Amino acid sequence: MITEMNTKSEQLISLEDKHGAHNYHPLPVVLERGEGVYVWDVEGKRYFDFLSAYSAVNQGHCHPRIVKTMVDQAQKLALTSRAFYNNVLGEYEQFITGLFGYDKVLPMNTGAEGVETALKLARKWGYEKKGVAENQAKIIVCAGNFHGRTISIISASSDSDSRGGFGPYTPGFITIPYNSTSALAEALKDKNVVGFMVEPIQGEAGVMVPDEGYLQTCQAMCKDANVLFIADEIQTGIARTGKMLACDHEGVRADILILGKALSGGMYPVSAILADDEVMLCIKPGQHGSTYGGNPLGCKVAMTAMQVVTEEKLAENAEEMGKILRAELKAIQSDILTTVRGKGLLNAIVIKEKNGKTAWDVCLKLAENGLLAKPTHGDIIRFAPPLVITKSQIMECAAIIRKTIESFS
Ligand SMILES: Cc1ncc(COP(=O)(O)O)c(C=O)c1O
Repeated sequence: MITEMNTKSEQLISLEDKHGAHNYHPLPVVLERGEGVYVWDVEGKRYFDFLSAYSAVNQGHCHPRIVKTMVDQAQKLALTSRAFYNNVLGEYEQFITGLFGYDKVLPMNTGAEGVETALKLARKWGYEKKGVAENQAKIIVCAGNFHGRTISIISASSDSDSRGGFGPYTPGFITIPYNSTSALAEALKDKNVVGFMVEPIQGEAGVMVPDEGYLQTCQAMCKDANVLFIADEIQTGIARTGKMLACDHEGVRADILILGKALSGGMYPVSAILADDEVMLCIKPGQHGSTYGGNPLGCKVAMTAMQVVTEEKLAENAEEMGKILRAELKAIQSDILTTVRGKGLLNAIVIKEKNGKTAWDVCLKLAENGLLAKPTHGDIIRFAPPLVITKSQIMECAAIIRKTIESFS
C-alpha cells in the first residue's frame, strides 16, 4: 500500500488509470474486502474505514443481515421497472413513510437523482399550488453546497471544480451564504421562490455545522413565505449525526426530505424523496421516474438497512462515539491541527500546512498507520466511520490519529 506500493496494488491502480476516466483522485489504496468498520487491501492490510463511502456504509461493511436480504431477493426478483406493480414496493413505501412520517415517497437510485427529483417537485408545486408564472420558479441554495453532479445540480453549486467548464447552466437558482438567516430573509422576498434547499450540515464543504437554531429559523421563515423547506439529508441522514435525521436535532420537519447513501447500507443505490400529498401529488404519471427506482431488490435492501439502524441503535451510538472522538481529537496538542468540529460521527479536522506537508500527506500517513480518511478542500479531513464502531475501536482510532498528527508536529 501507499508509499511503497507493491506490485498488486500498483498493477490495479495503473489499470484504472489506463482504462478509467480520471474523474477522481483516490488515495493509493486498493481495497478488496470489508467487514463492519474494517476494510482490507489486496495485500491483506487491514484499515479502519473513516470515510464509510461518504456516509453510505453507516451500518458497517457487508452487514450480514443486509447481505442476506440482498441475496435472497436477488434470487427471487430484482427488477420489474415501474411498467408493472411488484409485490415489494408497496410494503417498502408503507414502511419508509411510516418511519419518517410523510404521506408519500418517490423512490430513485442515486443521491443526485433524489436531488433532481426534489427540484422538479418543488418547481411543479410552485406552478400548481403557489401560482408562480410558467418558467419563473426559483430555488434558493447555499454557497458551499454539495448536492451531486448533474448539470442542474452543479448549476446550483458555487464550487469552481464542480461547475467550471460545464456551462451553460440551468437557471432558476439563488445562492445565499450558508448559516445566514438574514440572507435567507432577503432572498425570500422574491415571490417566485418555491423552495429553499439546504444540507443540515454541509458535508463536502468540510463538515460545516451551522449555528444552533439555524434550521428551525429557516423552516419557520420558509413557512411564512409559502416556500418549501427542502432538506438534503443524503449525507447527514440515517443516524450519521446522532439522530435519525440531522434536522431532528432541532425538531425540524422538512417539506421535502431527500435521502440516499445509507438508506441501503451501501449495498445498492437507493434514494428517496419524501413529502406529503399536497406536494408529492403534483407529479403525475409520466412526469418523472427511473427504470430502477422502486425495484424490489432496492426496496428489500432498504427495509433491512433501516431496520439495522433502528434495532442496533446506531443513532445513539453515533452520538456517544462522536462525543468521545471529538474529546480525544481536541486533546491532541499539535501546531498543525487547528480545528475539530462535527456532530455525532460526522466530524472533521482542519490541518495547517507545514514544511510543504498538507492534509493529503496526513491522510497518506493515517493509511500507513491503518486508518483511511480523505481530505476535502485541501486542508480538511473528514472522520466518519461506520456507526457500528465500538468504544475500544474509537479509542484505538483516536490513538492512530494522535500518533499520526504528532509525527508532523
Ligand atoms: C449532501 C449530498 N447530496 C447529494 C449527494 C450526491 O449523492 P450521489 O453521489 O449518490 O449522487 C451527496 C454525495 O456526496 C451529498 O453528500
